[in-house]
Amino acid sequence: MTLSSAVIGLLVALATAQQPQYPPAFPLQPSLASAYNNAPSVLPNILDSSAPNAQVVCSGYKASNVQQSSSGIQADLTLAGTACNVYGNDIKDLVLSVRYQSQSRLAVSITPKYLAPHNESLYILNERFTPLPGAEDGCSNTTSDLAFSWSNNPTFQFMVSRVGSGETIFSTYGKKIVFEDQFLELVTSMVPDYNVYGLAESFHSFRLGTNYTQTFWNAYNLDNDQLPDVNGHSTHPVYLETRYGNGSSTSHGVYARNAHGQEWLLREDSITYRTIGGSFDFYFLSGPTPKEVISQYQVGIVNTPIMQSYWSLGFHQCRWGYLNWTNLRDVVELYAEQGIQLEGIMNDLDYLNLNRIFTNNANYPVGEGKEFLDWLHARGQYYLPILDPNVYAPDPTNASDTYAPYDRGVELEVFIRNGNNSLYYGMEWNGFSVWPDFSVPQAQQFWTEQFVEYRKKLAFDGFWLDVSDPTSWCTGSCGQYQRSLNPVHVPFALPGDPNTSIAVDFRYPEMFNITNATEAAAASASRASQMSAYPSMTLAPSPVLRRTLATPGVRNINFPPYAINNFLPGHSLLKQVIAPNATHLDGPYNSTEYELHNLYGHLSGNATYNALVEVYEGKRPWFIARSTFAGSGSFAGHWGGDTNSDWGDMYFGISQALQFSIVGIPYFGVETCGFNGNSDMELCTRWMQLSAWFPMYRNHNNRNTIAQEAYRWSTTAESTRRIMNIRYSLLPYTYTLFHKANKAGETVLRALAWEFPDDASLKAIDNQFMSGPALLVTPVLAPLATTVQGVFPGVAAGTIWYDWYTLQKVDVVAGENKTMSAPIEHQPIAVRGGYIIPIQKAGNTTAMSRKSPWSLLIALDKDGKASGELYLDDGINIVQNATKNVEIEFSKGMLSTKVAGDFQDGIPLANITIAGASALPKDISLHIDGAACETAVVEVKTGGDVTYITGLEGVTTGGAWQNDLTLKLVY
Ligand SMILES: *[C@@H]1O[C@H](CO)[C@@H](O)[C@H](O)[C@H]1NC(C)=O
Ligand SMILES: *[C@@H]1O[C@H](CO)[C@@H](O)[C@H](O)[C@H]1NC(C)=O
Ligand SMILES: *[C@@H]1O[C@H](CO)[C@@H](O)[C@H](O)[C@H]1NC(C)=O
Repeated sequence: MTLSSAVIGLLVALATAQQPQYPPAFPLQPSLASAYNNAPSVLPNILDSSAPNAQVVCSGYKASNVQQSSSGIQADLTLAGTACNVYGNDIKDLVLSVRYQSQSRLAVSITPKYLAPHNESLYILNERFTPLPGAEDGCSNTTSDLAFSWSNNPTFQFMVSRVGSGETIFSTYGKKIVFEDQFLELVTSMVPDYNVYGLAESFHSFRLGTNYTQTFWNAYNLDNDQLPDVNGHSTHPVYLETRYGNGSSTSHGVYARNAHGQEWLLREDSITYRTIGGSFDFYFLSGPTPKEVISQYQVGIVNTPIMQSYWSLGFHQCRWGYLNWTNLRDVVELYAEQGIQLEGIMNDLDYLNLNRIFTNNANYPVGEGKEFLDWLHARGQYYLPILDPNVYAPDPTNASDTYAPYDRGVELEVFIRNGNNSLYYGMEWNGFSVWPDFSVPQAQQFWTEQFVEYRKKLAFDGFWLDVSDPTSWCTGSCGQYQRSLNPVHVPFALPGDPNTSIAVDFRYPEMFNITNATEAAAASASRASQMSAYPSMTLAPSPVLRRTLATPGVRNINFPPYAINNFLPGHSLLKQVIAPNATHLDGPYNSTEYELHNLYGHLSGNATYNALVEVYEGKRPWFIARSTFAGSGSFAGHWGGDTNSDWGDMYFGISQALQFSIVGIPYFGVETCGFNGNSDMELCTRWMQLSAWFPMYRNHNNRNTIAQEAYRWSTTAESTRRIMNIRYSLLPYTYTLFHKANKAGETVLRALAWEFPDDASLKAIDNQFMSGPALLVTPVLAPLATTVQGVFPGVAAGTIWYDWYTLQKVDVVAGENKTMSAPIEHQPIAVRGGYIIPIQKAGNTTAMSRKSPWSLLIALDKDGKASGELYLDDGINIVQNATKNVEIEFSKGMLSTKVAGDFQDGIPLANITIAGASALPKDISLHIDGAACETAVVEVKTGGDVTYITGLEGVTTGGAWQNDLTLKLVY
């Protein structure tokens, strides 16, 4: 043996000895093992060109017994030939039901004709889970915007078109309907180069394009949660389509109410919709503007977004790696010292005892926690810890391993089971775990009790519900025969686990090697040595799973005969989630996870919301869920998963936010500055600027990365102060947008294409966006940039844009992609002429901001007019005693406000700024409720085309919105 090989041998031995002993991959449940081993080697999937094409091999249906009335059509559909049984068992007899539900909504469903009662849940999505829209009174084929037509030639096919123009918005003509127990397919023809948006959640450009597959099987992609183009954490089977022509556009919406695993194949001239169960349950929305489609979906189908508390719009700091209460206190104090607003401080897993929910570990004692929370709450700030839905299952052989939530859940019979009636023991951060079945009422009781008990110990202010996809890190009920190993580490290294290849994350954003060459070189060397010392310890590789062929009469839920394009090797539906064969407790149905998987995040979110309402006694909960379904916006916000600290992930967040605007979850945000990998000054600065517009605004990173609070780099701190002062000064505007979303299905963040629907050049813009109707944001999305390009829509039709900072008109011509100066601390923002924005100067918290005197920013349009609105309430309670709506107009040199409602904030109006005013008024006259007022204290100045009126606070001492005001400028 040479000396050097002895040294290497020693090093290897050391490295091996230092490695933590994770349990090996857990053995499979016996019921799954045989399926694994006997699976044949076919893989019918979109990637498999030899997979049979259902359109070719299946027979389609013929309609008969057609009953037509003015409210709709009913017909029988009968299989037109032999059963193809291509990826399941053909259902021979179906029922077609067409209902004119409102002027703008047409419903078309196709369901099995014969359903045994216990069988219903396989095909019908229960309205307990997500709303089932019914018909409004008086709707008929004569009042509908949409018409339904069909043909039996050669087989049943249907078309939905607009009454009047005759434009076809959906058509299966020339294609067959395929309806099997485990495979449904329907194809609609599309116009060339169509524009389709939505189908959240994806990590993809905003305009989905004509070569894209959206898969829905809610999942956590541990290796790269932001992998583009794969299934994400949420399922929202609804899209918006916009068609341009002759200088205008029409838009419509399509919602397919089905929670099963599914995929949408967007192809050159068609969209193919496939699910592995359920029924066809389509809702067509007539628009015709994008905003109307979105509102029709939210108001008419899934319910409008929940009204947020005022304070939810503040900024929040989180990280995995805050190790104790002192640590949290330091962060809160450093934000204050640096003059950067902070509303909420969040905990990741660090506070929990062995990652068990509703516990605190020794570093986070509840006694000290109470002191910390008293201190925090007195400062007007909030504490928002993580929550997971899974419940630790104690080691049955160890009498001292007790966990009350487990015992209580067993007692109330709330946990998901195996078919054989034993509990389903999967694997999460705390080891072998069970999951409450939120499809049954006793799970709500269980959940609420836990919240009530835990809140007696610690006055938390809200939760962010993680891993509710639901994620499980072993295959099947792996803990069944080995719970005695608990508490067991997940079978792979977690970020930050010592002596592993991911103990420290040495990755940095693009261009870090240019901006910080020395550090970048050192990080890269450290990374290489860590990798060589500790071989990679991530999830054990999946066996490549093979699918079974359809067996007549057999329903195979673990390996369905058609493989949707889940991102995992072999497209397995079994791995990294609760397996499809887990059984729910819903009475006669005993639904399996196969039917309910995509609803787990939605149902656990709903239960969490209800429990929070209970503990906050009627106050609006702060709550975001990682996994959502159609309808979740009526109780939850959402964040976009584990971002990587890179520029591409920052950019895709805009498209993700716009998707969630469509589906009614405006309280959306991303992990600012990036979760995985290290951030750097430049990325974090630009990301803090961008996220300042996202309603949910938090900075969050992993525990094996460098700190990235907004004060860590002086440039980031300075830039953040600037942008956050803008965000906080706009709180009244944003809050009003939330009110309108809640009342009428409007949106907060908007695509340019929605505000300017006639301009086809805007159809794919996702590097700029609007906040409400009046503010246009052009973020910097690339490293090393000191300028940024952006468009200014509407200029050809006379829209005026003002630079936010100078209030000077933006000098831009129609269609110009304008280059703007954007040094590191600066983000270009423009105000749209014609709008009035109510403003309150930013305080340190949202509560302090609400005490600042009012200002109005009036941005005049080409006719010298502008209007705006303001909604006020106490910002806290679900049920309000008093609210206020203010309509604000400016025209012909006169400002007038019209108030309605009794809410009083008692804050005076101090300043009025008018952008686009060409002359300086000689005098002003002010009337309150029609009576003239003294205005001597008022000062009027001009700077360019801007008029500043200040010193009004003495005039409306009782509150700016107590009475109707008029203020006439005399020129
Ligand atoms: C509406 O339905 C009635 C009853 O089927 C039918 O007679 C009538 O022609 C339909 N009208 C339109 C506009 O389709
Ligand atoms: C469509 O996308 C696939 C993969 O995403 C790619 O391989 C293929 O070339 C694309 N087709 C066209 C026509 O762009
Ligand atoms: C809290 O954690 C920090 C590390 O972040 C450590 O330096 C400090 O000693 C801890 N303080 C207490 C009171 O445990």
